[in-house]
Amino acid sequence: MNWEQSYQEQDTPWDLGEASPPLIAVLNNEEIKLSVGQTALVPGCGYGHDAEALRRVGLEVTGLDLAPTALKSAEKLYGESVRWIEGDFLDTSMVQEHSVDMIFEHTCFCAIEPEQRRNYVESAKQWLVPGGFLLGVFFTDPPPRVDGALGPPFGVSLEELRGLFGESFTITRARSPDRSHPDRLGREVIVEMVRNT
Ligand SMILES: C[S@@+](CC[C@H](N)C(=O)[O-])C[C@H]1O[C@@H](n2cnc3c(N)ncnc32)[C@H](O)[C@@H]1O
Repeated sequence: MNWEQSYQEQDTPWDLGEASPPLIAVLNNEEIKLSVGQTALVPGCGYGHDAEALRRVGLEVTGLDLAPTALKSAEKLYGESVRWIEGDFLDTSMVQEHSVDMIFEHTCFCAIEPEQRRNYVESAKQWLVPGGFLLGVFFTDPPPRVDGALGPPFGVSLEELRGLFGESFTITRARSPDRSHPDRLGREVIVEMVRNT
């Protein structure tokens, strides 16, 4: 999948034009404990809506993406209060080790090839401070692609998530979100997990 090309061609059907509805619900209901000044990373941030939502509640946010065109648009939309960085989340050589308190995952995990998932877990572990946490909205049952391709998005079951993250993280909560985009209703799960120390 050539993400940069899709952004250049403005062919971005995944973009909701707003932050992930499950994230908005979690923030509105103050379901997770966040403190002003805590640091957060949003891998595969796209146009940056989720990063901006986290910034608005007082976090110091970094939005990371492979696609420079997405990041340019994110900066145009939301300015420089979020730190936008270009890079491959799966490349552990670019990890700023133990530098973030929180990772927010939304449609980056489903964008990578399933064989690369262990790299995702390793990067997440390296970025987070011990005791830091990952809040993720994961596609369990993505809508089928019109071209019949298997993905992306590639779905993942909660059982698979437990198997992948279980060694380095403790899953503290997993549930169907209170709110979802209509196209994603019943197709996603929101998971909180803490990096083991
Ligand atoms: C399906 S889009 C979702 C974008 C955004 N999260 C949203 O919900 O609109 C997947 C995003 O992940 C980015 N991406 C894919 N693989 C990546 C990787 N290995 N490292 C960083 N970003 C990646 C793509 O460039 C794209 O912006």
